[in-house]
Amino acid sequence: MSSVVLKEINKSYVDCRALDNVSLSIEDGEFMTLLGASGSGKTTLLNVIAGMVEPDTGSVLISDTDMTWIESRKRGLGMVFQSYALVPHMTVEENIAFPLKIRRLSRSEIRQRVSGILKIVQLEHLAKRKPRELSGGQQQRVAIARCLVYEPPVILMDEPLGALDKKLRDQLQREIRRIHQETRVTIIYVTHDQEEALFLSDRICLMRGGRIEQLGTPEDLYFRPRNVFVADFLGESNLLDCKVESAKTVRLPGGQVLRATLPEHDDAEIGDDRQLMIRPDRLRFVENDDSALNTLEGIVDATAFVGEVTRYTVRIGQVSVIVKARPIPGACPRSAGSTVRVAWAPEDALILQPGSTD
Ligand SMILES: Nc1ncnc2c1ncn2[C@@H]1O[C@H](COP(=O)(O)OP(=O)(O)O)[C@@H](O)[C@H]1O
Ligand SMILES: [Mg+2]
Repeated sequence: MSSVVLKEINKSYVDCRALDNVSLSIEDGEFMTLLGASGSGKTTLLNVIAGMVEPDTGSVLISDTDMTWIESRKRGLGMVFQSYALVPHMTVEENIAFPLKIRRLSRSEIRQRVSGILKIVQLEHLAKRKPRELSGGQQQRVAIARCLVYEPPVILMDEPLGALDKKLRDQLQREIRRIHQETRVTIIYVTHDQEEALFLSDRICLMRGGRIEQLGTPEDLYFRPRNVFVADFLGESNLLDCKVESAKTVRLPGGQVLRATLPEHDDAEIGDDRQLMIRPDRLRFVENDDSALNTLEGIVDATAFVGEVTRYTVRIGQVSVIVKARPIPGACPRSAGSTVRVAWAPEDALILQPGSTD
């Protein structure tokens, strides 16, 4: 089984603690993304797994074997970085065959594997080209193919799409996802891009200051963030100051009492300061009050049609909220200045603590 287990990893440099007691288990076949802002420790953690950075304390297990002190090349992991590092005088085919030659596979085995992988990354028609005759996206596909071809149990990728423009990045994201689904190789992927992480991952490990802020599925992090930091990092959210009124209600500064959901891990007391988080796509407009929902009256400040949804800014007393609603064909959109009722289900309103600030 190609699982990766990290136990209590610590790594400090002279003036910073790059990894602060990180424990993480990655399952066989899983797509795990290390997500976080620049400097949060993602590359250091990936390099500890790769054997390129020694942890001060802690251990690294790969497929149940302790690899903490085993040198990098003996770990047998695949690696894909932002720079493609292809051999310039070799063709695509030769570049991909290279790791197999080093491993002394037979010629027929090499031919068979290279043609199989070229099919997976859809580069068969470019097999005879040199790297300089390829676009950035094609070069990165060669780098991925060169890594897949020797069937490493785990592939580590550090911002592999960081150098590409948005359109190519989108295309390669879809390809990496398809390749993962076809091969079911364990992938540990580093990015600072939350959309990329949401799209690709089975689970996301959100890092901050060398620690894991939250670990979970994309849905967990998006809909059940542990705190304001996580909510803010992933997607847009409405965050309203409030005070805890009871286990199931909060009070806004304007005095309105709203039903909301207090996460289990929060042992808040009445009167504690919190923030109420509601995703813009969980808010909707209603004509009449509905006892199953929270409703507030407001005035539309601005509207913007952005394709699939219309984005409204609605002023409710002292605060503004963003509402994202699908335009209803034929219906008249709410225009700026109109009075509206905004509603949401209590389970879509989370009572959150501010993120830890250290
Ligand atoms: N070789 C090094 N020497 C000193 N500090 C380092 C070194 N490598 C990383 N760091 C520091 O460790 C922290 C985490 O870095 P890194 O893992 O590269 O972050 P990320 O990949 O999330 O941007 C940063 O503060 C960085 O400056
Ligand atoms: Mg990095």
